[in-house]
Amino acid sequence: MLTPAQLDRYRRDGFLVLDGFVDRAACDALRARAGELIAAWEPGDQRTVFTTDEQARKTDDYFLDSGDEIRFFFEEGALDGDGRLTCPKERAINKIGHALHDLDPVFEAFSRTPALAALVEALGLAEPQLMQSMYICKQPLIGGEVRCHQDSTYLHTEPEAMVGLWFALEDARLDNGCLWAIPGGHRDGLRARFVRDGRTTRLDVLDPRPWDEAALVPLEVHRGDLIILDGRVPHMSHMNRSPASRHAYTLHVVSGRSVYPDTNWLRRRSPARGFLGG
Ligand code: FE2
Repeated sequence: MLTPAQLDRYRRDGFLVLDGFVDRAACDALRARAGELIAAWEPGDQRTVFTTDEQARKTDDYFLDSGDEIRFFFEEGALDGDGRLTCPKERAINKIGHALHDLDPVFEAFSRTPALAALVEALGLAEPQLMQSMYICKQPLIGGEVRCHQDSTYLHTEPEAMVGLWFALEDARLDNGCLWAIPGGHRDGLRARFVRDGRTTRLDVLDPRPWDEAALVPLEVHRGDLIILDGRVPHMSHMNRSPASRHAYTLHVVSGRSVYPDTNWLRRRSPARGFLGG
């Protein structure tokens, strides 16, 4: 599944790009399904924006209870001062999360494949459990910046054992907000932990050093490519100011051999399952 050279690169850099891992038709089918979910969804009064700006972050009930639901979060630039949509809803969604892989048959079929099971096994993650899925739209012109972070800040296990899988459903380039990552940054410690305490959350800073943004490298990829991210590798994406969307799908996989503390923001009523259903 992975050559020794690919595994070495993954361990050295904390990320690895696999060209053409997913069939392009499967990418298109996932995009079409996301379009159907958005079309069927009525926003109502619930207007939760997803932002990675800690000052503006709002962890409301809609977000906190989305761990085993399919919920829709808006781009910051899609709502006016009174919370009204300034564009059609299909252009306003920042992301859909966080249990698409469990609740929607099309997403489940994309997420639970023998190829992914073999890949994650090759990475050494024992008893993988699919904890979180996100459909990320990165909308044309308003797709928000995702600030530099480590995914292990937002999902933690003891001992730490987590891998992120980032599927490009469209080409991701410099102009439409591709991922950037710091090669080797996963070996420089965890900088912060996002902690849930009842119905509130906080960010515990463990290491206040600023990110070495000069060390970031762009990960431009094509539709169907897969980026594997170590839970500790620092990564970010700029705002999408281009007229092209940049849809992606992510899965965050933890090890069933680790403890999943209830200080994680994401909670589920049923246990997370593996790639082959169990
Ligand atoms: Fe991330």
